[in-house]
Amino acid sequence: MSGLHDLVGRSNVVVCCGSGGVGKTTGAAALGLDVARCGRRVVVVTIDPARRLADALGLPDGLTGEPQRVPVETGDGELWAMMLDAPAMFERVVRGHATDDEQAERIVTNRFYRNMATALSGTQEYMASEALHELHADDRFDLVVVDTPPSRNAIEFLEAPSVLTRFLDHKVFKLMMMPTRTGLKIFSAATQPLLNAIGRVVGSDVLGDAVAFFQAFAGMEAGFRQRADEVAELLRADDTTFVVVTSPRHDALVEAAWFGHELVERGFGVGAIVVNRLHPTFGDGTPADAHDKAATARDRDDLDLAAMWTNLGELRELAARERSEVDQLLATADTPVVEVPLLPDDVHDLESLDHLAQYLFPARRNESEPEGNG
Ligand SMILES: Nc1ncnc2c1ncn2[C@@H]1O[C@H](COP(=O)(O)OP(=O)(O)OP(=O)(O)O)[C@@H](O)[C@H]1O
Ligand SMILES: [Mg+2]
Repeated sequence: MSGLHDLVGRSNVVVCCGSGGVGKTTGAAALGLDVARCGRRVVVVTIDPARRLADALGLPDGLTGEPQRVPVETGDGELWAMMLDAPAMFERVVRGHATDDEQAERIVTNRFYRNMATALSGTQEYMASEALHELHADDRFDLVVVDTPPSRNAIEFLEAPSVLTRFLDHKVFKLMMMPTRTGLKIFSAATQPLLNAIGRVVGSDVLGDAVAFFQAFAGMEAGFRQRADEVAELLRADDTTFVVVTSPRHDALVEAAWFGHELVERGFGVGAIVVNRLHPTFGDGTPADAHDKAATARDRDDLDLAAMWTNLGELRELAARERSEVDQLLATADTPVVEVPLLPDDVHDLESLDHLAQYLFPARRNESEPEGNG
């Protein structure tokens, strides 16, 4: 199997994606740390990192919207980290594209804009892709590792760069952007369903603000469109690698396999599907052995022991179920699959990040450490 480590080592961008809570942020941090230790200058962009992760990285004041050097020993490499501040990023993007301060001000103070910058679904993904673009162009860094927001559907991240231009392409917004004194009434039949939809998101009282927003936007579409194209191109570049993280549950695995396949179909490079938090197999016996022992203990009225055997039986069942699900994925996935066990504790210190990295990059693990019996 071509090692994920080599692939990541050659990449300029790594995108960690997957559904909520599967270990994207932790995986991004572990991966970044490892690559930095191999001598590269790495920046990890995280989304809502757990407090304890920032602590683990020696950043007790937390991560900020600007890249900070992480004070860990990385030899010739460097590890940097930042947290995505979506509203601040959005404002920077608007100011970057605006023709003058007055236009920027009109937009960033607009209520529709403010709602969109903080609440619209897809905005976080959009801003993560903007951050990626910005950091990729920053010559302080060799590799940008992007952790993605907990999307319902990981495809959202791919569509994020065009979230705004898709809005702009809508004929209703084209009409809205035309200067008009007659107001909305003349469009009402055509626009009503869409306005209702916006109204549900931002509140119908701010529809006037929406119109003002799109009018203020005039002249900036071209810049946004070009940027969306650049980000899309970057995501598809040869040296961009997607890492799809998943839990070992059936539905999650099916979705991850589908997503990995979808990425490949759409021309993105997938380095691996990482199945995280696999339950270990406890001892040599089968689930049935444990349940038999539980029954024997119950017959002897040793209820505590029976409960322990039952528990063990259930854990073995869980591990066996996960094993068979992952085997199925291994047999069908068109990308390498990397297995990471459930570690004894949450990953909240450097030691456990290293531990995780050894599973992410098993080739290096074999080089550096004899196999433990975890
Ligand atoms: N292999 C593992 N063993 C034990 N704990 C783990 C493992 N991987 C991740 N965790 C823990 O699981 C929790 C969730 O991980 P993480 O925050 O990385 O998920 P996420 O995918 O980024 O979540 P979200 O979608 O909410 O952003 C964290 O507390 C982390 O320490
Ligand atoms: Mg996360």
